[in-house]
Amino acid sequence: MTDRLDIEVADAAGAANAKADPPKRKVFTRTYGCQMNVYDSERMNDVLAPQGYSVTEDLADADLVILNTCHIREKAAEKVYSELGRIRKVKEERALAGKDMMVGVAGCVAQAEGEEISRRAPIVDMVFGPQSYHRLPKLLEEAASGKKVVETEFDIDAKFEHLSERAARPVQKRPPAAFLTVQEGCDKFCTFCVVPYTRGAEVSRSVAQIVAEAEQMAAGGVREITLLGQNVNGWHGEAPDGKTWGLGRLLRRLSEIDGLDRLRYTTSHPRDMDDELIDAHRDLKTLMPYLHLPVQSGSDKILAAMNRKHTRDEYFRLIDRIREASPDIAMSCDFIVGFPGETDQDFEDTMDLIRRVEYGSAFSFKYSQRPGTPGATMADQVPEEVKGARLAELQALVASQQTAFNASRLGMTCDVLFERKGRNPGQLVGKSPWLQPVPVDAPEALIGTIQAVEIVEIGSNSLFGRLVAGHHASNGSSHDAIKEAAFDA
Ligand code: SAH
Ligand code: SF4
Ligand code: F3S
Repeated sequence: MTDRLDIEVADAAGAANAKADPPKRKVFTRTYGCQMNVYDSERMNDVLAPQGYSVTEDLADADLVILNTCHIREKAAEKVYSELGRIRKVKEERALAGKDMMVGVAGCVAQAEGEEISRRAPIVDMVFGPQSYHRLPKLLEEAASGKKVVETEFDIDAKFEHLSERAARPVQKRPPAAFLTVQEGCDKFCTFCVVPYTRGAEVSRSVAQIVAEAEQMAAGGVREITLLGQNVNGWHGEAPDGKTWGLGRLLRRLSEIDGLDRLRYTTSHPRDMDDELIDAHRDLKTLMPYLHLPVQSGSDKILAAMNRKHTRDEYFRLIDRIREASPDIAMSCDFIVGFPGETDQDFEDTMDLIRRVEYGSAFSFKYSQRPGTPGATMADQVPEEVKGARLAELQALVASQQTAFNASRLGMTCDVLFERKGRNPGQLVGKSPWLQPVPVDAPEALIGTIQAVEIVEIGSNSLFGRLVAGHHASNGSSHDAIKEAAFDA
């Protein structure tokens, strides 16, 4: 009896010690691809913290390296293998100094290629897909015992349940603007796209889960939340009233949370833009006047071949309704040039659509054949040089529209949420309501606050401003600021 008690006490003490003082280790994470990966990387760090891991920016200092990868285009996937080559050298150097380094590949390349990755890059100890992050401690244990771990199960519900528990831990200081994933996966199967294969079927988190996480974030200092989903406006979640809500209703609920001053959401599909969501743009002061609504092509023939399930006219009508609700909105888009079968005329239709809509910004890509997608084996693949020429032409048009949109802000006073220090001493960088970075001379104490800023100069991406309260921005020729792309490949 006494023995038994002793053992229990000893175990309890051991467990307490382990909790209070796990071995100190460092994790280096590199994130590729979309914002959902950024959110996931942050959650992985949350899961690793109680295991004794703190974050390092120095690869050579890392006991654990995680590449959170993207499979959307060929270039994005290939980057991972060249990075693994670099990591191999660092791992070898550490081994000479008697130090270990565990290497994990997470994200969409992991999901798509599985054990093929450790075959191509034997230094990889763990390959795990986007739905396995809550099991990281277990996977690390297995890998530490010398096993090559490959984990590519789909169980999104379990992931969110566990990650929510993590989010409910004592509040940590958070940056002023943060992401919150509300929906994952995609059932749309556009014929060019790997996402339905790498992220699985569409799953929406419940209202209760999302509100709890948003409240935690607000309590930790977050002023702006961007709701994330591969099809975020297709979100339809179980609500406390027993009904199923759409995104417009969810945004209304979130706008009631104290301290949460700004809401955004991305990425939306034209088919899922319903009246309730459009009305939210008219009614909610917290909902920022920016909408990323990819159309991909302006040709009905190509839209059909892409399986986008809408026409260019339907898209135009949608834009009209959105602008009626929110006249000042900055429209953003994604375009693919050189989808199989795209003729000069089809491309001209895309250019015409862009001229008619007038975007505030847009991302554009050359079509990339992705293994396993219907587009990869379609006839009439477009030659690389044609894709290149079309992309350059399209990007020049978008750049001129972006400049025009930004120029139209000159002299305006708008709210800016200051997020961090800028490049120049005494400078902070915030975001405008339309999502442009705004460098302003301002004291550091203003980070995390929203201030009235007058736009005094226009850069290619940024709006340069000065505090209306009397601060003067010394903009000089510092057009160097901040380029922020949603995708890095
Ligand atoms: N769910 C979002 C898009 C996610 S992928 C939507 O439906 O709009 C982000 C962007 O990558 C897409 O909008 C598309 O423009 C681009 N993209 C996806 N697959 C691609 C491919 N095979 N080649 C080139 N661009 C691609
Ligand atoms: Fe990909 Fe289309 Fe789904 Fe967007 S809607 S994630 S482009 S399949
Ligand atoms: Fe890339 Fe996966 Fe996001 S393929 S764009 S990281 S969903």
